[in-house]
Amino acid sequence: MVDLRSDTVTRPVAAMREAMASAEVGDDVYGEDPTVNALEARVAELFGHEAAMFTPSGSMANQICLQLLVPPGEELLCDADAHVVTYEIGAAAALGGISSRTWPAAGADLDPEAVAGMIRPAGYNAVPTRAIAVEQTHNLGGGGVIPLSTLRALRGVADDAGIGLHCDGARIWHAHVADGVPLATYGGLFDTLSVCLSKGLGAPVGSVVVSSRERIQRARVIRKRLGGGMRQAGILAAAGEYALSHHIERLADDHARAARLAEALAPYGIVDAARVVTNIVPLDLTKAPIDGPSLGAAARERGVLVSVVGPRRGRLVTHLDVDDAAIDRAAEVLTGILRGA
Ligand SMILES: Cc1ncc(COP(=O)(O)O)c(C=O)c1O
Repeated sequence: MVDLRSDTVTRPVAAMREAMASAEVGDDVYGEDPTVNALEARVAELFGHEAAMFTPSGSMANQICLQLLVPPGEELLCDADAHVVTYEIGAAAALGGISSRTWPAAGADLDPEAVAGMIRPAGYNAVPTRAIAVEQTHNLGGGGVIPLSTLRALRGVADDAGIGLHCDGARIWHAHVADGVPLATYGGLFDTLSVCLSKGLGAPVGSVVVSSRERIQRARVIRKRLGGGMRQAGILAAAGEYALSHHIERLADDHARAARLAEALAPYGIVDAARVVTNIVPLDLTKAPIDGPSLGAAARERGVLVSVVGPRRGRLVTHLDVDDAAIDRAAEVLTGILRGA
């Protein structure tokens, strides 16, 4: 099977497993796991922030950040397709009491002025806006990279309004590799970031919250409350350390493979190859002779797994476990199905 559903399907490589097996560990709820502590210090430094905290998942990392920035009953602004309001099962509302309002899905093309126009000031008769969240890269936005100039403008908008700015940086590594923007430059723009080790970087588990020392102290309380306090988590943190050391620069290969897939599919009118800049190839099947579920089923029968995200919307994601031969095979299978439909 060539599994292009997500970059979360990767399996830890042998050297990563060895690093996990030999990790020094302690009880992280007591703050005594040296491997977790080292990972947190490393990630904080990478993003130029004071502190960081390991979490079991990207969703938990995001939700902790949102709770840090937005008190219950107050408001978060984000894209209608943002992971935090689409795929986190209502956690902001259910667990944080956070009200959210979205701008129309724009992916990486968000307009800071339009966002500024949505901000509601504090007052007794309206829900005050307390934070803006963006996603870098933008998952449902086809892996698009929000330009640095847009993020800088958005920082200005947040500062003018005196509100927080969060980055769901599950794939911020991909943006860094695609655009060459240093991770610390991204770090300097946000009050909180959540970054994932288990998407393109190939660790089996783990994300990291990055912020100020004061916020990370509060984050540890929220994580414990959510049931995310882990004990000998160094075994997992060691996988993250390995991923940071060995799997960032190679993301360029995933981007090149996504571009190749996009070029193969572009003649069928389902992909705009020029917009594929990282490891995600969004499929727009509105004018295709086949719908998403049928394409997914036909591809599965021929050994290719595709993510179907809507009746006429699909997604292919390249990652550590798909090589050039797998990409060629997937392109052959998918173009064959489109020709025959
Ligand atoms: C953009 C984005 N944010 C957050 C997450 C959540 O990560 P997790 O699955 O570890 O909760 C994902 C998962 O794919 C994602 O794509």
